[in-house]
Amino acid sequence: MPVVVSFVGQKGGVGKSTLARAFAAIAARGKLKVKLADLDVNQQTSVRWARTRSARGNGYPVEAEAYTTFEDVLANIKGFDLIIVDTPGHASPVTLEIARSSQVVILPTGASTDDLYPTVLLLYELEQMGIPKERLVVALCRLLEQREEHAARKYIETAGYEALVGSIPERSGYRSAHNLGQSITETSDQTLNRRARTLMESLLEKVMSQLQGSNTFQKREGNGSVA
Ligand SMILES: Nc1ncnc2c1ncn2[C@@H]1O[C@H](COP(=O)(O)OP(=O)(O)OP(=O)(O)O)[C@@H](O)[C@H]1O
Ligand SMILES: [Mg+2]
Repeated sequence: MPVVVSFVGQKGGVGKSTLARAFAAIAARGKLKVKLADLDVNQQTSVRWARTRSARGNGYPVEAEAYTTFEDVLANIKGFDLIIVDTPGHASPVTLEIARSSQVVILPTGASTDDLYPTVLLLYELEQMGIPKERLVVALCRLLEQREEHAARKYIETAGYEALVGSIPERSGYRSAHNLGQSITETSDQTLNRRARTLMESLLEKVMSQLQGSNTFQKREGNGSVA
C-alpha cells in the first residue's frame, strides 16, 4: 500500500496546493513513484501546474490527476509509493475520510487569528473523530513578517497541536515559480528556496516518523533529501 499524505484546510488560498506540489516535486526527485491526486476538480491547480511543468521540462515530472471522489483516488493507487492528496478550499465530510486514510495530514494556514482559529477547530474536529493527533500537523504559510511565525506557532502549540519547523513567507517569487511549473523549493531565488526547504524537510521528517516500520520509505530513505 502506498503512503498517503494529504493537504486539507477550512479556508481557501492558504497554501494546500503550494505545499502539495512542493512535496510531490521532492518525492519525484527522490525517485519515488508519486501521484499528486487533485480533488479540486473545479480549479485543478495541481493538475494544471504539473502540465506546465512537463511542457516546460522543468524539474522531475510530477504525475498529477484530477478526481471527483476520494474513492476514485483509492481505486487508482496501485503501483505508487506515495499518494499526495490536494483538497478543495473547504473542509467537508470527505476531509475526515481522507484524513482516516492518510499517514500524515497537513493543514496549511496563514498567521491571522481569522486563519488560525478555523485551523485549530478543524484539528480538534479531526481528533474528535478519531484521527490520532500525531498524524496532524500545521504548516505556517504566506507570512508577511518573521515575527508572525512566532505568534502563530504559539497559537497552534497552546491549542495542543504541532506546527512544522519554519514557515513560507508571502513572496512574488513563489508565484512566479508556480507560473512556470516549478515548486517553492525550485524558484530562481536561493533564499526563497532555502526558506521553503526548511519547512519541507520538517514535513519529510514528520512523514518519516509516522512511517517507522514502513518498507516503502525506509528502502528509499537515502533518496529523501530535499537539497
Ligand atoms: N507564500 C506564497 N507567496 C506568494 N504567493 C503564494 C504563496 N503561497 C501560495 N501563493 C499563491 O497563492 C495562491 C493560492 O495558493 P494555493 O493554491 O497554494 O492555496 P490553496 O490553499 O490550495 O487554495 P484553494 O483553497 O483555492 O485550493 C496561488 O496563486 C499561489 O501561487
Ligand atoms: Mg488548492
